[in-house]
Amino acid sequence: MSQTVPLNAPAYVKHEGLKKWVAEIAALTQPDRIYWADGSQEEYDRLCAEMVEAGMLIKLNQEKRPNSYLAWSDPSDVARVEDRTYICSKNKDDAGPTNNWEDPAKMRDTLNGLFKGCMHGRTMYVVPFSMGPLGSPIAHIGIEITDSPYVVVNMRTMTRMGAKVFDVLGASGDYVPCVHSIGAPLGPNEKDSRWPCNPDTKYIVHYPETREIWSYGSGYGGNALLGKKCFALRIASNMARDEGWLAEHMLILGVESPQGEKTYVAAAFPSACGKTNFAMLIPPKTFDGWKITTVGDDIAWIKPQKQADGSTKFYAINPEAGFFGVAPGTSEKTNFNAMATLKENIIFTNVALTDDGDVWWEGMSKEAPAHCIDWQGKDWTPEIAKETGRKAAHPNSRFTAPAEQCPSVDAKWEDPQGVPISAFIFGGRRATTVPLAYQAFNWNFGVYMAATLGSETTAAAFGAQGVVRRDPFAMLPFCGYHMGDYFNHWLKMGHTVDQAPGIFCVNWFRLNDKGEFMWPGFGENMRVLKWIVDRVRGRVAAKETALGWMPRFEDIDWTGLEITKAEFEALTKIDADAWKSELAGHKEWFDKLGEKLPKQLTLKRELFEMNIFRDAA
Ligand code: OXD
Ligand code: MN
Repeated sequence: MSQTVPLNAPAYVKHEGLKKWVAEIAALTQPDRIYWADGSQEEYDRLCAEMVEAGMLIKLNQEKRPNSYLAWSDPSDVARVEDRTYICSKNKDDAGPTNNWEDPAKMRDTLNGLFKGCMHGRTMYVVPFSMGPLGSPIAHIGIEITDSPYVVVNMRTMTRMGAKVFDVLGASGDYVPCVHSIGAPLGPNEKDSRWPCNPDTKYIVHYPETREIWSYGSGYGGNALLGKKCFALRIASNMARDEGWLAEHMLILGVESPQGEKTYVAAAFPSACGKTNFAMLIPPKTFDGWKITTVGDDIAWIKPQKQADGSTKFYAINPEAGFFGVAPGTSEKTNFNAMATLKENIIFTNVALTDDGDVWWEGMSKEAPAHCIDWQGKDWTPEIAKETGRKAAHPNSRFTAPAEQCPSVDAKWEDPQGVPISAFIFGGRRATTVPLAYQAFNWNFGVYMAATLGSETTAAAFGAQGVVRRDPFAMLPFCGYHMGDYFNHWLKMGHTVDQAPGIFCVNWFRLNDKGEFMWPGFGENMRVLKWIVDRVRGRVAAKETALGWMPRFEDIDWTGLEITKAEFEALTKIDADAWKSELAGHKEWFDKLGEKLPKQLTLKRELFEMNIFRDAA
């Protein structure tokens, strides 16, 4: 081994296998030094101060935004790179047609070439982290090696990170090895740019069989904070399939009644459908005494567990410890709890800097500031925006915020046992076709609904707008194996518990003839949520339709909202023609999955078709 840099492992690291692996990665990447992150406040403050000194972070006005910082990325490095994301299973067919695949041996060759000497001039940080509360039976450990101090400080907020992880890992515990480099080695007299990365070459690689992650070239979000999408979804979905649990792109929330009855639900929505807002919803004023509590806003790990009475139910944890939320559109009006969470200890990325040293983004306030510096470091005024269309904040700009600062955080959000899940909710952005809310007839019908979930593309994503894309379970970019096998796993999992959750579909985005939203959304979604809770508790009726059980007008509490029966009928209408083409779209999507598509789902599609034709006849 050509490695000469001292390993510097602290005395509390007893895991010889881990030390050997760290030494191997150091020999390959050739950093100037190795540093083991302990997760302390002192370390966080020091790393942030070093990044401020180097021009990589801006310290915000300490009175307005205590202990908070702003990072501006390279314009080439602003979002997840799905076309550079790979699932390298031994067999191509195990990755399936929805993932990029490369032969693992070939990919290892490519990456060995790229990682060779890639940390020259830099510190290699060893970042131990737990996804889930430390020691929880649902949690798992990862070790991320990175040459980005920005990643280290973000990982401290987003995971349980630091020395305490070794109490659980011990001398021989299992961990998921995650290797990350920004892919920008420094020459002898070179200095860093404000956001070092590799603007040309990026690879986000997963080896599902050996449970490894290698990420090269990007310093941004899901590409670089490897605990999140890479581990908690792509690798964990493989672990979950093998071990009999679920790793899902879902928020978890609690619904508390005025009597103190608590019901937890998990919900999956594709990007840009208001997941974080839903997780932190504030009920309308007329729902006196009702409360929504937040367990998580992005990822749920769900395992069957025994309850006190001996029966089994799904219990879920949020494997993360923070929110990596989209900033634009977040305001006191759209998400009061998120704004309260953002008061201090935040890292903002790619939002605008105001003249008084605070942050701003489109949609944060009605009035834009008269002047600010945009995410590319340029002067920005409302006039410039009008003339050029240039945004002050990048549409995918983010905040990294500790979950514990959220006013609606659930009392059990860190409970190692997780919280019992009574309902799964699936929703997309659909201008037509999909009714406001309905419940699947049973588990398998629900799996069908989730497997065919669609959402319209928005301005936030590249390409044509308003086109329906299938995003099954909101997992299309995150399922680490063949989607057909994933559907099969879901079909099986419903039968592993005595009390399977009810499965519901919602659509907050239906438009009228004038192109206006028919449903007010935000806090008013509470009305649908209450119907869902009442359904799973068996105390509200519904009418049978071709799609499933649907609320009748009188089944929903409308106090405080003016909505006519005719408007409700329009919101819940099943348009037979629209559903015929919708079901044709499902077939097209299923045909892509080939042999591995469960027969059960093909049959369900035919049944839906028969029901729709029957009702239309
Ligand atoms: C996210 C995403 O960042 O889903 O959570 O893209
Ligand atoms: Mn997400």
